[in-house]
Amino acid sequence: MTDALTIRRPDDWHLHLRDGEMLALVAPYTARQFGRAIVMPNLVPPVTTVDAAKAYRERIRSAVGDARFEPLMTAYLTDQIDPDEVARGHEEGVLTACKLYPAGATTNSDRGVTDIAAIHPVLERMSAIGMPLLVHGEVVDADIDIFDREKVFLERVLAPTLERFPDLKVVLEHITTAEAVAFVQGAGPNVAATITAHHLRIDRNDILVGGIKPHSYCLPVAKRTRHKEALRALVTTGDSKFFLGTDSAPHARSAKENACGCAGIFSAPFAIESYAQTFDELGCLEKLEGFASLYGPAFYGLPANEETITLERGEQQVPERIDPEGFDLTPFHAGERLGWSLVG
Ligand code: DOR
Ligand code: ZN
Repeated sequence: MTDALTIRRPDDWHLHLRDGEMLALVAPYTARQFGRAIVMPNLVPPVTTVDAAKAYRERIRSAVGDARFEPLMTAYLTDQIDPDEVARGHEEGVLTACKLYPAGATTNSDRGVTDIAAIHPVLERMSAIGMPLLVHGEVVDADIDIFDREKVFLERVLAPTLERFPDLKVVLEHITTAEAVAFVQGAGPNVAATITAHHLRIDRNDILVGGIKPHSYCLPVAKRTRHKEALRALVTTGDSKFFLGTDSAPHARSAKENACGCAGIFSAPFAIESYAQTFDELGCLEKLEGFASLYGPAFYGLPANEETITLERGEQQVPERIDPEGFDLTPFHAGERLGWSLVG
């Protein structure tokens, strides 16, 4: 039995860091584990310009206070986004990627894209310069059941978009279904996906059985058990098209435990330990380094981190609350014992 695991320092390819006091609180949890993170732009107002991304990057750097951590910035696509602005940001090394939120799909997505055709010009430009498109893959049509939103997005939006832009680099974010696994596997090498720690562990029963569990609610919402099992089976294969993205998305307790609770699971504090636990349960700990530390950089054309981290087997207690006197955040695995600890 492996009792210690040393791997290249991982990166988080999908993360919400927020801003202001919340940023100061949550960012150090990520920097403790990860070398880099792709930072989501869904602030209020969203990050849509090079200057806004630069300023946000500086705020993140000062919140983290550790120069080894590198925030990788993204621009929020709107119907009016200027392709020149996005291309300039990429050229200047400020913008790593662009994020597509279908308008109304999730938290702070109201300025998102109302019709994929509106962003065809920017997608054409991104395809030409090799800038990745990060996709929140859910349709928002009122007639589509929320549990089918991802599957329908693949058919109605992503497949035709890739037909139109066959070389566009796409990361399908936080996948939750067997259909998404199959779609990405069947697509070209320019299409990849991220998988969260929580979608490898929870299904919709965990949200709804025995009382509603607001801290397990996120978007895309966790699906049936068979979809979780598809994700778990996939990571055992070591397929390099799938890599780590936590989608850690903190909201204050008052916003989660609410008659209209916000979507988002705050997984940053014990993220790598959670993934390690899952991979260990699946008997594929040897696949963790590729998933967490190698496949993401390879897709983005970046070197893997030189440093390493070490995880040790041994129980640790996850607190029920973080910042109880302030935002009062409930971390993923709150109150549970985790079988792995990050020790260095
Ligand atoms: O659960 C989610 N929370 N999903 C998202 O897509 C956005 C995120 C957030 O920003 O809170
Ligand atoms: Zn997200």
